[in-house]
Amino acid sequence: METKVLLPTEDNIKLAAEYIRVGELCGMPTETVYGLAANAFDQVAVEKTFEAKGRPQDNPLIVHISEISEISDVAVDIPQLSYRLAKAFWPGPLTMILKKSPKIPMCVTAGMDTVAVRMPKHKVARDFIKACGVPITAPSANLSGKPSPTSADVVYDDLNGKIPVILDGGVCEYGVESTVVLINDNNHLTLLRPGAITVDMLKTVAANVTVDRGVLSEIKDNERALSPGMKHKHYSPNTHVVILDCDFNSFKAYVESRTNERAGAMVFDGEEELLSVPCVTFGAKDDPYAQAKLLFHSLRTLDTLNVDTVYSRNPDSEGIGLAIYNRLLRAAGFEVIKL
Ligand code: TXA
Ligand code: MG
Repeated sequence: METKVLLPTEDNIKLAAEYIRVGELCGMPTETVYGLAANAFDQVAVEKTFEAKGRPQDNPLIVHISEISEISDVAVDIPQLSYRLAKAFWPGPLTMILKKSPKIPMCVTAGMDTVAVRMPKHKVARDFIKACGVPITAPSANLSGKPSPTSADVVYDDLNGKIPVILDGGVCEYGVESTVVLINDNNHLTLLRPGAITVDMLKTVAANVTVDRGVLSEIKDNERALSPGMKHKHYSPNTHVVILDCDFNSFKAYVESRTNERAGAMVFDGEEELLSVPCVTFGAKDDPYAQAKLLFHSLRTLDTLNVDTVYSRNPDSEGIGLAIYNRLLRAAGFEVIKL
């Protein structure tokens, strides 16, 4: 199968929706990362998603809708806080874990009785979901374990030959996946995955927001994760990545002293000019939005540096920075050296 990459004209969106109607998959742009779309009511189509990505069967998918009213097609017993969150942050990069409707096949939720729901903001995603006429499952459209795709060409690199069509909606606005929250009661949320909807933003709607310990620390094999995705290997370049927690001068001294290995560096814009090792950059030091947008692209690019280990600068973990740090920690297999 040759994968077609289509510009998102009205006709092409209709054509892509036709593939979904016959049980096929489609690469879809969103404001976070590209998703791999399937009809959420079609068990066979959803199973194809797991196969195309090489995704572990125990990792559930997010169901995407195009209007708030569609929430009741996928979830039941919806708490009042969900509607307050939807009003504040939908359409946008927020995913809520709700009680699953029996209409959603078990393979979508990996056997759990909850379902993840999100209403994306990207116009192409919304027009496409509307044209499909059904809720759409969409995990990030990368091979499982690799950094998520923030442009259509990366989806093509990973999934060419495995899916019939990709809608090319340009580079994603945020570059990190949606914030995922669990609703404990009408005032209390647990943050399972940080994203562009930050803890401070969530606190404007819910009085209590707890950051799950899986956000910043490793969940061991024998421990239960509130979000199965926390346990899986993620965002991993082939190159070994280590985060150095220190200022730039200590970073430079450490990296340049590693003469017994081929060392590279992932640094903030401009710092590459001050280092003698091969570098990739991931945005300006004081611009977390630029860092978020570039992170996955930079993680993929560092495999072209042809080095053994890439040492990364440590981003600020405030606001959207928590999402950047969370992804980078996983890319580094939680290896952080404090200097
Ligand atoms: O921004 C996004 O959310 C992107 C775009 C395409 O919308 N999608 C995305 O999907 O990141 P995926 O499959 O790569 O990540 C979904 C995450 C996983 O960590 C999964 O374990 C978690 O959501 N998840 C899904 N259903 C869940 C559930 N019922 N309970 C807890 N976690 C769940
Ligand atoms: Mg993913």
